[in-house]
Formats: sequence, C-alpha cells, structure tokens
Amino acid sequence: MSRNPAEQAREASAQQLLADAASRAQRYLADLPQRAVAPSAEAIARLAQLDVPLPEEEQEAEQVLARLDDIISPATMAMAGPRFFGFVIGGALPVTVASNWLATAWDQNTGLYASTPGTSHVEATALRWLKEALYLPRDAAGAFVTGATVANLTALAAARHRVLAQAGWSVEADGLFGAPPITVIVGEEVHPTVLKALGVLGLGRNRVVRVPVDAQGRRRRLRPVGTRNAKACTARARRGRRRFLGHGCAQVAERAL
Ligand SMILES: Cc1ncc(COP(=O)(O)O)c(C=O)c1O
Repeated sequence: MSRNPAEQAREASAQQLLADAASRAQRYLADLPQRAVAPSAEAIARLAQLDVPLPEEEQEAEQVLARLDDIISPATMAMAGPRFFGFVIGGALPVTVASNWLATAWDQNTGLYASTPGTSHVEATALRWLKEALYLPRDAAGAFVTGATVANLTALAAARHRVLAQAGWSVEADGLFGAPPITVIVGEEVHPTVLKALGVLGLGRNRVVRVPVDAQGRRRRLRPVGTRNAKACTARARRGRRRFLGHGCAQVAERAL
C-alpha cells in the first residue's frame, strides 16, 4: 500500500532519530575506557540546565535527544565501563544493550501469557535457566523483581505467609493484628534492605534476634541449648533485640521468644 508523503517523512524522521540514538549510545560506550569513572564537578553543575519549568510547547525530538546526551551523559557514573568497582553490578555487554533496545521497541506489558506470549516465554525460559544454574528443584517457582531489595521483600512476604499459615493464621485475610508473634533471626551483618523489608511487612525492623556469623556470612555454630540460663537469655533478647546476643543465648532466645 502506498503511503502519502507526510507518512513517509514521519517514518524517515523516526528512523533517523533511532539511528542518532544508537550512534550516541555507541559513542558513549566507546568513551568509557578513557573517561573518568565519576562525573566531574563541572558536569554535575551543568545539570542545573534541567531546572526549568515544565515546558508548555512541544520540542523537536532530535533536540530532546541531543540535550539528554549533552547534559546527562557526562554526568553519569561510568558503571557500564571496565573501571567501576562500586557495588556488585555487572557491566553491560554489547549483546545486552542491543537486546534491551529491542525490548524497548517491543514495549510489552508482560502481565499475561495470552496477551504477550513472546516476552512471557522468554521470561519463563530465563527462570528455567536460572533454576538449572543454581541447582534448584525443577518444580520451583520464581519471578523477576526490580532488584535485591524487592527480592528480600518478596521472599520475606512468602516466609511470613508460610509460618503464619502453619500456625493456622491467614495473614492475607486477617492481617497482623492479633497474629501469633514471629521471631525473625538474622545474621549480625544483615543487609539494611532486609530490615527495611521487615519494616514494610509489619514484622518490625527492631524485632530481630541477631546471631554471630563467620567471614562468609554463615551462622556460626551455636553452643547446645542448656549451657546458658534460658531465663536470662530471653530477658536480654526482650530488652534489647538489636544487640548481639551471643552464641548460646541466641539459640535459647530463638526457642523462647
Ligand atoms: C544482600 C543485598 N541485598 C540488597 C541489596 C540492594 O540491592 P538493590 O539495589 O538491587 O535493591 C544489595 C546490594 O548490594 C545486597 O548485596
């Protein structure tokens, strides 16, 4: 079907815009090995150019892209490059960047298999591969979340459901008011996001029993129960749950609280 000149011009301009974005992204990635990892003070100061009122007029797409690249690219931390060693994130690979571009073009709201079979299938495949890589049971279920913080939240919500269901309480139906109390035991090097998740879930970020861990973050061997005064341990745990309890005490408190 022949398209009218206006449609053809729109399509040509969209193609040019996407090609421009691709070449800007390529230039950004190619510069990474040479540029400073952290943005300069000057680049950060230039971000003030964004402090303008919400524009009332539409702007040319090419100008939007050019402004983003000119102002934001120099103010980024070079996380995709080979010399960024902060946090535990992996650098982007060419194939992951390219696949991400394609996924953005697909623009799928992957909520249901029936409406988005392609991306639903790729999600199921990636989950299956993860189970294989981590030696998890074949019938284990999984889901992708935004990051480790939400993973902690999701896993603790599942755990909260499970322990309360075992105690005959439906937390989803009846909430936490009047529910059997749950004792949460954490390693003394617990990540702050776990405590955050406990707060969000109504389990209380301070209502935890901290136990000592070894250099690998593994719970250290506890002394057998009975070697400590159970009453004193429980009282200590109740008084100051944030404090480190000591080997035997933690185990006693775990049972008693
Ligand atoms: C154990 C643990 N939990 C949570 C986080 C936070 O991760 P995210 O930024 O993906 O939420 C990190 C980040 O290093 C982590 O190591």
